[in-house]
Amino acid sequence: MYIMSLTLKAMQTKARFSLLVAFAIALSACSPNPAPTASGSPQASGTATSSPSSSVAGIAIGVGVAQTSNVALLGQEEVAGAKIAEKYFNDKGGINGTPIKLVFQDTGGDEQGAINAFQTLITKDKVVGIVGPTLSQQAFGADPIADRAKVPVIGPSNTAKGIPQIGDFIARVSAPVSVVAPNSVKAALKINPNIKKVAVFYAQNDAFNKSETEIFQQTVKDQKLELVTVQKFQTTDTDFQSQATAALNLKPDLAIISGLAADGGNLVRQLRELGYKGLIIGGNGLNTSNLFPVCKALCDGVLIAQAYSPEQPGDVNAAFREAYRSQFKKEPPQFSAQAFAGVQVFVDALKVVDKQTKVSQQALPDLRVALNKQILLGKYSTPLGEISFTPEGEIVQKAFYVAQIKMDADGSSGKFTYLK
Ligand code: ALA
Repeated sequence: MYIMSLTLKAMQTKARFSLLVAFAIALSACSPNPAPTASGSPQASGTATSSPSSSVAGIAIGVGVAQTSNVALLGQEEVAGAKIAEKYFNDKGGINGTPIKLVFQDTGGDEQGAINAFQTLITKDKVVGIVGPTLSQQAFGADPIADRAKVPVIGPSNTAKGIPQIGDFIARVSAPVSVVAPNSVKAALKINPNIKKVAVFYAQNDAFNKSETEIFQQTVKDQKLELVTVQKFQTTDTDFQSQATAALNLKPDLAIISGLAADGGNLVRQLRELGYKGLIIGGNGLNTSNLFPVCKALCDGVLIAQAYSPEQPGDVNAAFREAYRSQFKKEPPQFSAQAFAGVQVFVDALKVVDKQTKVSQQALPDLRVALNKQILLGKYSTPLGEISFTPEGEIVQKAFYVAQIKMDADGSSGKFTYLK
């Protein structure tokens, strides 16, 4: 439903164009998003949920991210960022006077859940485009479906190599591992120039982690460090004793982990419990305060590269940061900022398309194609700074950062401290 309701007069006027214009009325019931726990028991994926504001009419933009499963440790931050964007842009007049309406479909944590959610958004909800999914692993499954249906997709957090290359309709606002990951290794060397031996760990059942570890391993070699071991695990693992012990026997002074939040947090905890005192770098899958309940006080000191800073200058980030802080009482995380940016790209591009031909007068397939074209042409002033896209759909972004986790002594709370 890309236009979820119209006035009676407008419907009468436009009735004769019914073959050209897709109409639907939003009737979906309100359903609050489940809050995942750190232990994150897996739940059924592909479940339809709707925004709490579903009675409001508007141009439907899909958000297909993980609201359940362990991946919701990342996905719930995306839901938060997308909802802040929805309110922010609707308060500013939406698409030249017509509000947007986000339609949420839960992907769960796997490929099939993402495929189901994307299919529902495309064929039932008739969205103009989709922000999602959460994982690159899911994107490689679901994005080809959107691409074949000629539905534009903005990846909010898909950082593996090869995402924009999935197809003409796939772009991302999440800078790739090749651009982001090396920054944390350089920051670790600045903190401790004596680092020589590096142990690398990665989740081998996940496309993004396989992609990220390649970059980390290459960076280790480029920095003339010694890669003493590469240990593998699964994102579903909770016990890392054998990998941690094998690595610590080789006396590394830097450990680099490519995993997701629950497994990565447990690995951090177990490395520390086994007596490891050196620096730890976490990859993008650990970039959430939802890590804190997993490794608690032992999360302290973990370095994570960032594609966002709450201090990023600009009016849009100031408004986003204030909205996030007033709702969540903490600084906004990267995943929320990227989801906001994903919605913003659709909004800004829709405004341009609508000025050429009113969105309400375009057939949905034509609108999706025109929108995709405009997405790739535009420049966007987002919480991530000024961004644009290559013709392939890769993000062009200027500013990157590194943060270090600072936990309080009892491990009950913590924050990301940005390094200068
Ligand atoms: N950045 C992670 C991925 O691409 C979440 O899967």
